[in-house]
Amino acid sequence: MSAERWDSVWIDVNLATMDDDVAAPYGAIQDAALGVKDGRIVFIGSRADLPGRPQDLAAEVHSGEGGWLTPGLVDCHTHLVYGGNRAREFELRLQGASYEEIAKAGGGIVSTVMATRNADEDSLLAASLPRLDALLAEGVTTIEIKSGYGLDTETETRMLRVARRLGEVRPVDVRTTFLGAHAVPPEYKADPEAYVDLVCAEMLPAIAKAGLADAVDAFCEGIGFSTEQTRKVFEAARAHGLPVKLHAEQLSNLGGAALVAEFGGLSADHIEYLDEAGVQAMAKAGVVAVLLPGAFYMLRETRKPPIELLRKHGVAMALSTDCNPGTSPVTSLLLMLNMACTLFFLTPEEALAGVTRHAAKALGLDDRGVLRPGMRADMALWRIGAPAELAYAIGLNPCAAVVRAGKQHTPRQER
Ligand code: NIG
Ligand code: FE
Repeated sequence: MSAERWDSVWIDVNLATMDDDVAAPYGAIQDAALGVKDGRIVFIGSRADLPGRPQDLAAEVHSGEGGWLTPGLVDCHTHLVYGGNRAREFELRLQGASYEEIAKAGGGIVSTVMATRNADEDSLLAASLPRLDALLAEGVTTIEIKSGYGLDTETETRMLRVARRLGEVRPVDVRTTFLGAHAVPPEYKADPEAYVDLVCAEMLPAIAKAGLADAVDAFCEGIGFSTEQTRKVFEAARAHGLPVKLHAEQLSNLGGAALVAEFGGLSADHIEYLDEAGVQAMAKAGVVAVLLPGAFYMLRETRKPPIELLRKHGVAMALSTDCNPGTSPVTSLLLMLNMACTLFFLTPEEALAGVTRHAAKALGLDDRGVLRPGMRADMALWRIGAPAELAYAIGLNPCAAVVRAGKQHTPRQER
């Protein structure tokens, strides 16, 4: 037995496995047990089905104190690393200026670019840590972080280095995305095509060579880049073997989601203005829809993403904070569960799948996002009586413990 002994076993706990193969809502197993060895889940089932006494089976026995274990949360779309903030722009928007007007007047993304270019690596790290810590305290174990506020090779590289360092100084897996095509920097205002060429011929190759990006993103929009320009960026990504994703159909419909589908990409994000043809293209190519209710809310958008069409065509819906200084200064993934239900009419179960199973899929990760033998032991323990409470409550953090690759971190400890 001893060679086979598990590292740990959880008892006095209920599981929201989020596994489709478990028939109950949330893939729930009540009065359950979960065994971990070498950072992986090795047993899931009813407590009664444990093949022995917990203390004989595992070196450590953890009590869930009657709470619920879910997969560790995955925040699959963030711009968490940036300099400065945009509280002043918030005031201007409250006085009537629109997001697009501010961007056209040289504010918006470009103002964050200036603040980020002026920040060195250590100050960017220091500015980003409180945002990351807020997310981690709510059970996040994997986060995606984009560049896109440098818009030159040096600063884009610095942002991605900071993103990677965040994963070294905190117990979280960081996936990085190169978003050089986020906005046209002021020095290229007269010649946006030359900037696209720079992204494709210099920035992306340098970042790929340094191994600093896991994927490539762009902002396909009237105030961003056209579908033709986005296509060039995607072709460069493909040439470097990097998967693509897109800020698509956020303020208008340019056909960005269909472009992601054409490139066999990971996800189309925002998608308030997505139409049925775009949804069908996504369904066919297995592209994940990433819903970002924080940006919808902050921009007082009224057009909702086409949830019914996404359901009808079986497109996986992920949910994320879009943590960024302009449209979504949000560092609570739990709040996004509530907003997805309240604003977009997702069910609490769909919302939880959106920050676990489907968010992992949006990052191309098939080793996490559900509790199942063989998967990474990334888990969050919640002091709740039922999983729907995670989406229901606003402002309460019931996260009692976080486990990453089998190692337990209590929220806020070591922070
Ligand atoms: O996801 N839409 C483009 N990018 C961000 C906003 C960036 C910003 O305003 O700083 C978004 O909403
Ligand atoms: Fe975004």
